[in-house]
Amino acid sequence: MSIMSRALAFAGAAALLTSVAQAAELKVGYSLSQDSHYGVGATAFGEELEKLTDGKFTIKQYPANALGGEREMVEGAQIGTVDVVITSTGPVGNFVPETLITDIPFLFKGYEHAHAVLDGPIGQEILDKFPEHGLIALAWGENGFRNLTNSKRAVKTPADAEGLKIRTMENQVHMEAFKEFGILPTPMAFPELFTALQQGTVDGQENPIGVILSAKFSEVQEHLSLTNHVYSPALIILSPVVWDGLTDEEKDAFRQAAKTAAAAMRKKVRDDAENGVAVLKEQGMTVTEEVDRAAFEAELEPLMAKYAEQFGADRLDAIRNHD
Ligand code: PAF
Repeated sequence: MSIMSRALAFAGAAALLTSVAQAAELKVGYSLSQDSHYGVGATAFGEELEKLTDGKFTIKQYPANALGGEREMVEGAQIGTVDVVITSTGPVGNFVPETLITDIPFLFKGYEHAHAVLDGPIGQEILDKFPEHGLIALAWGENGFRNLTNSKRAVKTPADAEGLKIRTMENQVHMEAFKEFGILPTPMAFPELFTALQQGTVDGQENPIGVILSAKFSEVQEHLSLTNHVYSPALIILSPVVWDGLTDEEKDAFRQAAKTAAAAMRKKVRDDAENGVAVLKEQGMTVTEEVDRAAFEAELEPLMAKYAEQFGADRLDAIRNHD
């Protein structure tokens, strides 16, 4: 953090400590609409927190990028202008590089595998790194397995995807992987994405079914391929400015509320993944269900040696071989 950021954080902390001693309404920001998995998670978080703290802490939700894109909200949490952020890991690796390992495509075999890893010691070790980077991570939430959409053609194999200009999150691991797929990755903040798709600045994007639904991408994208190429975790992040003013009992309440939020989020992600494709078809999208995932995964072979060096071969194996 810069000196200015630290000064702002200190001023924010002083102001908040006064209010925390009484009661506090926390600002919770996220990028999706209130009826999305993030909205469901935020509501569960607020209800549980209020209950566990006898009404001392309540929340006000700021959905749909009202507090900025995910990178900006995380910066806001660092300096105390945003209290809680529900975010994908997309931009978080730029703040806490230890999260980047979770962004490797085809690393997680399914939802149960991802939950077991992230809710166990490996996931906890990553959460424990956040304070070193001026943030508190309360729990892993969920965004879901990401799927490719585009306005040009049905994509079944990497050859079909070659040359497409696809918006990626501002995430180094995703951008490298997309290059291997023969795609032209275009990193862009989510708030700019709908217009970029509408105006043809990019051909497509990739996101979980729940996001494709809630962001109404069927209005600007014809083709959906069920690539499920990467699991996209989410995080419930708290500003250290809030955290530092809490008692130990309140800290437990925040952690517990975040776990309740994560469970609600994961349920909604599953419901959307199971029921959303039919809705997107009704909305006019052409869906490619039989994607050659093995061929996409094979394209990443050259990157795996680099990942083994960057993240540690043992650590990657520990995730891959986790029950
Ligand atoms: O694509 C992204 O940037 C993220 O998946 C989103 C939609 C903001 C949800 O975290």
